[in-house]
Amino acid sequence: MKNDPNYLSCKKKECKTFQNGKCAVSTCSGSLQFHVVNIRSDIEFVFFSGGFVEPCLVGRSTPVSFANPKRPLYGHLSSIDSTGTSMRLTWVSGDKEPQQIQYGNGKTVASAVTTFSQDDMCSSALPSPAKDFGWHDPGYIHSALMTGLKPSSTFSYRYGSGWVGWSEQIKFSTPPAGGSDELRFIAFGDMGKTPLDASEEHYIQPGALSVIKAIANDVNSNNVNSVFHIGDISYATGFLAEWDYFLHLINPVASRISYMTAIGNHERDYIDSGSVYVTPDSGGECGVPYETYFPMPTSAKDKPWYSIEQGSVHFTVISTEHDWSENSEQYEWVQKDMASVNRQKTPWLIFMGHRPMYTTNHGFLPSENKFMEAVEPLLLENKVDLVLFGHVHNYERTCSLFQNECKAMPAKDKNGVDTYDGRNYSAPVHAVIGMAGFTLDKFSSNVKSWSLKRISEFGYLRAHATRNDLNLEVSVYMLMFQSHYSIR
Ligand SMILES: [Fe+2]
Repeated sequence: MKNDPNYLSCKKKECKTFQNGKCAVSTCSGSLQFHVVNIRSDIEFVFFSGGFVEPCLVGRSTPVSFANPKRPLYGHLSSIDSTGTSMRLTWVSGDKEPQQIQYGNGKTVASAVTTFSQDDMCSSALPSPAKDFGWHDPGYIHSALMTGLKPSSTFSYRYGSGWVGWSEQIKFSTPPAGGSDELRFIAFGDMGKTPLDASEEHYIQPGALSVIKAIANDVNSNNVNSVFHIGDISYATGFLAEWDYFLHLINPVASRISYMTAIGNHERDYIDSGSVYVTPDSGGECGVPYETYFPMPTSAKDKPWYSIEQGSVHFTVISTEHDWSENSEQYEWVQKDMASVNRQKTPWLIFMGHRPMYTTNHGFLPSENKFMEAVEPLLLENKVDLVLFGHVHNYERTCSLFQNECKAMPAKDKNGVDTYDGRNYSAPVHAVIGMAGFTLDKFSSNVKSWSLKRISEFGYLRAHATRNDLNLEVSVYMLMFQSHYSIR
């Protein structure tokens, strides 16, 4: 109630009980505004006094129902391969009957319908919110593939059915085919969501709203072909209704261009669940909601690594939360995938995952050191140009780096842009880009010689790859500051 000045000053005073002509009990009233999205189930508003420490129920509203709990909502796109000729759309509805996408002047495709249940959530000796008080029925997740499209082209679609209603007609763009000349993409990690009201949630990411708005502006000016969100996606972490809020937030971007993802600790990790790190960071989700909402072109369930080519770039996307040790299934896949890249077709090789190899921000866990020992040699062997990670909530870029040593430094071009010599390859450039929403991490005074740029502001990475250049800029909140660099 602290946001309502009328309540604080008790302007709306009302007497409830009189004694001897005088008021014995008076009340003050006030109002609160909430932003809710359609989570398909009725909502009650409950008023507590006593704060979080000693909550005491004062009153509750009658249940409020959504006009159409079956309404098809939160459609978001992803690529399934490197041709740019098909796009997967995934959406949510309270209805389990197959629905349709109508697209590209008269084509129709029916959805496959799936969901997950409380039994699919994981728990351990430490009970998880996902299996208990954080559970919320996700309804039904629909997904269908639009095929026969042209790369780098604009089409329109709507999704739903005659029974449950239709979405708006939405314009979307396919990414450029792998091996074509040019790609503009955006990448970031750790976005989450910001409430659109004064709510307190268990996990709030204050920068998410401004960052997604800035990205939506880029998408609206047709400046972006695709997005990569590399882990720590919604931070629902076992409070499942928050996935709907996240999907609502990214909708202006994800319904229009390919929204590709990598898994992070907050989607996957839990004790005794097979994750490399045995922290309870996913709140008992263990990757199940993530994989259902964001189907990526992976080989099987709970093997969330894949590669994709767009324009002049080959992206190798891994899971830092699944076994990457030498001779593990993922390690062997990474080795094979990167060795098979045809650099005539895609001159640039970009490696992405969630937990960084290099950051001056915090001390490393033993497993994080082992990750670096196992995987870093593969980056050099396969001449990876750029390595992108999140997890740490700021931006940091290195020299051309291998085993803590700068193998080459960038030169300044005539505009003062740091320019790395990609033709005379020495080692990969690493960048941490986990600054898209979560409360920022401040940098310590511990500056390493390999750390060339450190920015602790909300923002994202904007990239433009041609056949000869890979130009990158960091767009930060309110565009007060930009840092450019390029690899040529
Ligand atoms: Fe993380």
